[in-house]
Amino acid sequence: MNYQQWLVQASSALNQANPQENGKTDALVLLQFATGKSRTQILAFDETEIEEKVRSNLTALLDRRLKGEPIAYILGEKEFWSLSLNVAESTLIPRPDTEILVEQALRIAKEKLQKNPPHFRLLDLGTGTGAIALALASELTRICEKQATELTIIGVDVIPEAVALAKSNAEKNQLNVLFFQSQWLEQVEGTFDLIVSNPPYIDENDEHLSQGDVRFEPLSALVATEQGYGDLRHIIEQAPAYLNEGGALLLEHGWQQGEKVRSIFAKNHWEKIATLRDYGDNERVTYGFWKSYEI
Ligand SMILES: C[S@@+](CC[C@H](N)C(=O)[O-])C[C@H]1O[C@@H](n2cnc3c(N)ncnc32)[C@H](O)[C@@H]1O
Repeated sequence: MNYQQWLVQASSALNQANPQENGKTDALVLLQFATGKSRTQILAFDETEIEEKVRSNLTALLDRRLKGEPIAYILGEKEFWSLSLNVAESTLIPRPDTEILVEQALRIAKEKLQKNPPHFRLLDLGTGTGAIALALASELTRICEKQATELTIIGVDVIPEAVALAKSNAEKNQLNVLFFQSQWLEQVEGTFDLIVSNPPYIDENDEHLSQGDVRFEPLSALVATEQGYGDLRHIIEQAPAYLNEGGALLLEHGWQQGEKVRSIFAKNHWEKIATLRDYGDNERVTYGFWKSYEI
């Protein structure tokens, strides 16, 4: 069987199994992964015969995809903010919508860095693959080096395997972020200029948990108590003690949670509270500033 024949067969099987996904794209990605060839090489030389060893590997990969396993878990990596990140079943696969949070965190960080502070400290709670912390490190390291601001970026997660994964991603991308295990802020010391988090925020009874990619992702990364608001509320309540004066907290949340999240911020005396929308025009990230430790 050659590339072209395999692509036709695999695309058709995938389209049948997951009609809402693009079977052709997935088939091509799997073939690239198994052969180590580029998309162009495969399409330009599609009459190439597939070796028996590669073929049996492809059958196993296709089988996993046919069962609905996310492509990112099958390949073991995912692109986020132009970084290539290792992914694993211990945590969430980074989503493009999370880049909204990174963009806003960068905007706020750059504003604060204009004042040439001696230190700049940033904390990512529930870091998972390290996606947010590493994306921010990739942008802020050079700026801070240029102006001699000492940059500290910390990422924590309660799942040890996620911490190990984040560390592997720091190494892979040669970025300097300190990752360690902590139940939210419990093991964290010191204060920060910026705290960011994409915590679990799905209600345990949400029907979407049994659909699509999330079926394969761990509940520890998805589900929170209090109809999904438990972790968001906990972080909003605890963060002030860990923020420098004028520091900001940015939280990703569900598309229907903006109003309630703003009200939790307001109830806890945060200032300049605002919500940003994602690429689908849904409320996705809410943030607030903390003036001083005294209320
Ligand atoms: C929605 S995922 C986000 C992962 C990553 N930050 C991202 O945006 O792709 C939530 C993460 O929070 C972690 N988490 C859940 N409960 C936690 C807790 N009590 N303390 C620290 N991290 C927690 C999960 O293990 C998971 O990695």
